Amino acid sequence: MRPDLPSLLRRITDDAFAENDWGAPADYIPELARIKPAQFGIAVAPATGDVMTAGDATTPFSVQSVTKVFTLAIALGRSGDQLWKRVGREPSGRAFNSIMQLEQEQGRPRNPFINAGAIVTTDQVLDQREPKEALAEIVRFVRAAAGNEDIHINDRVAASEAAHGHRNAALAHFLAAYGNLRNTPERTLGTYYHHCAIEMSARDLALAGRFLVDAPGLPRLISRTRIRRINALMMTCGHYDGSGDFAYRVGIPAKSGVGGGILAVVPGIASIAVWSPGLNRYGNSLRGTHALAQLSTAMEWSVF
Ligand code: DON
Repeated sequence: MRPDLPSLLRRITDDAFAENDWGAPADYIPELARIKPAQFGIAVAPATGDVMTAGDATTPFSVQSVTKVFTLAIALGRSGDQLWKRVGREPSGRAFNSIMQLEQEQGRPRNPFINAGAIVTTDQVLDQREPKEALAEIVRFVRAAAGNEDIHINDRVAASEAAHGHRNAALAHFLAAYGNLRNTPERTLGTYYHHCAIEMSARDLALAGRFLVDAPGLPRLISRTRIRRINALMMTCGHYDGSGDFAYRVGIPAKSGVGGGILAVVPGIASIAVWSPGLNRYGNSLRGTHALAQLSTAMEWSVF
């Protein structure tokens, strides 16, 4: 029999807090490096009924790469399949910030979730506009999805990343060298750092993720076909070179961020967000991944 969900979330949270190993927060973004690792929050927004939470589920955190799901939805909405001329749909098998493959493959990033691919997606969303217009569109989308007008960008985190973003600058310049950037590297990167610095709680992120659940009565921000396709990319590429292991352990589409958040989708059933800032060796939340494995196993939630 499936357990009662609120008590399961409490048990998963208690188990997380009983652990000693929390992993380490991202150290290449100084504003994130100083966040206390021993924090954990989880939220489940079911297709019908109220959101359920446990632990530090109302503490805002930096969603980082999780925003790549929202910018991908916006880029596809603006330019449809044109995007795929510039970025692929294959898992990279490499770290999220790897440079080598981009040169080997002549400036066409493997997928929209690795940094190089997300920089291209951001460039596509930016189009010919001012960065602040594109950012306003991204924030509007996230707020509409979550139903919370207070969600905002943390400018300090964006500035902190920009000041240390040598790898991303290298990726953007490689893209420009191969003719795969329409705006200057500086303009695209500025937009990219700012949308990565969107802050929200696990509760808000679970609510925002409902647009990918595809069930009657939920906010319909994109077509059903796009929902399925974005979920497919989350499943195959959402955890970088840890995507295979995540699919094996958790079995549902999900996207991680270096701020320690993970957004996961049980198609037709629920959106889940988990946050714990300490990371594993792939740059994905250590306790968050573990919690999702516990949750999906106990609830028998899997796309397989
Ligand atoms: O560009 C970066 O490195 C960060 N703004 C986002 C990376 C990230 O979240 C990777 N996720 N696990």
